[in-house]
Amino acid sequence: MDQIVNLTKRRGFVFPSAEIYGGFRSTYDYGPLGVLMLRNVKEAWWRSMVQLRDDVVGLDAAILGPPAIWEASGHLANFTDPLVDCRNCNERWRADHLVASDKDGKIHCPNCDSTDLTEARAFNMMFKTYAGPVEDEGAVAYLRPETAQGMFYNFANVLQTSRKRPPFGIAQQGKSFRNEITPGNFVFRTREFEQMELEYFVPPDEGPQWFEYWCAERMQWYRDLGIPDDMLRLRPHDPEELSHYSAGTSDVEFLFPWGWGELEGIANRTDFDLTAHSKASGERLEYYDQASGERYVPHVIEPAAGATRTMMAFLIAAYDEDEIGGERRSVLRLHPRLAPYKVAVLPLSKKDTLTPVAREVLQLLQPHVMCDYDDTQSIGRRYRRQDEVGTPFCVTVDFESLEDRAVTVRDRDTTAQDRVPIDGLVEHVRAKLAL
Ligand code: GAP
Repeated sequence: MDQIVNLTKRRGFVFPSAEIYGGFRSTYDYGPLGVLMLRNVKEAWWRSMVQLRDDVVGLDAAILGPPAIWEASGHLANFTDPLVDCRNCNERWRADHLVASDKDGKIHCPNCDSTDLTEARAFNMMFKTYAGPVEDEGAVAYLRPETAQGMFYNFANVLQTSRKRPPFGIAQQGKSFRNEITPGNFVFRTREFEQMELEYFVPPDEGPQWFEYWCAERMQWYRDLGIPDDMLRLRPHDPEELSHYSAGTSDVEFLFPWGWGELEGIANRTDFDLTAHSKASGERLEYYDQASGERYVPHVIEPAAGATRTMMAFLIAAYDEDEIGGERRSVLRLHPRLAPYKVAVLPLSKKDTLTPVAREVLQLLQPHVMCDYDDTQSIGRRYRRQDEVGTPFCVTVDFESLEDRAVTVRDRDTTAQDRVPIDGLVEHVRAKLAL
């Protein structure tokens, strides 16, 4: 874990936010490579969930919303963590994270070992703010704690404009905010994070079969992008773990260095949300089939993933160390779709004679794939630098390139090198990347 955190900082994936001011409460910024990789994670999800299907459409709803949404959804009443305070050191803990000590059967404060703890109180995790210049009750707004609700309160709008009929889905990606009491484990649990959620609306009696379908689909997505089977599992929730809206949930879990942790929750939300918003707003949120005269409130299957958390899992799964020609290297064996740069163009020497061809090669590739250009230090060190950030291919322009109009393409994983004509380079790289 330390190696990953160190690498992500050193190579510009993730920085502690507001670092020059001492950082800010487990918030993080995504640097030049992190922003590329996070976009790639979201793009891979969008491709699989929207682009390659004809039964899912997209949405980008507002982050700020009125209390009415969160009253109807149940979040104002139920989106809480049980909190206890230590009367000795004043630290605050999640009651469900504390376990009784083997020694005396009592719960101890992890900070000072005192047993003088308050009763558990419900603490609402939503961030509250005010919209407009007056900070009174009428101006209260909340930052969304999940992207899901935007898809429920827009159900009728999307149904009408997209002309879809169940089974169909609405997909959304974006920031969500939760006032987590115990954020931590790097970007695993933060107060500001990105989600990728699908709400899939189905005829009520088809809920269970679509739940199974989405569990299988989502597991396959992680496998296809390189998470090995032994680091991935699907874990059904115990009844007491279920969220207030769920009739059944299974978590896709990843084997983090500290143990199994959730990447995604797949929930059968039944008609809970559409019914709740319909009652609260007075709007009909249902499907009417003109041909059959049938009218019903669809049930919802929701695969809800975290983009930032999933990016971290991909980094951990991809991290490897091996030996090349007697020299140790760190390599990120990222799926090409997720790698920040697909190709690095490396002129063998900084000599002016090579620069024009190297830049020509760069400009040839740039419209097709994200490229890096590096002409500093020895070629061996530049290969290592690219291996360490997961770049699948390095294209080296050498003095022979001036004569034969060909370049050397080096493979990150095997380090095998192919000589490829510049004219056929784009096709060669595209075929190898198989994006
Ligand atoms: N709409 C359902 C929902 O939000 P969730 O299990 O609370 O379900 C879905 O969240 C996913 O969002 C989680 O599996 C996780 O990947 C991500 N997530 C939730 N809270 C997070 C946090 N504090 N930091 C980072 N990611 C988080």
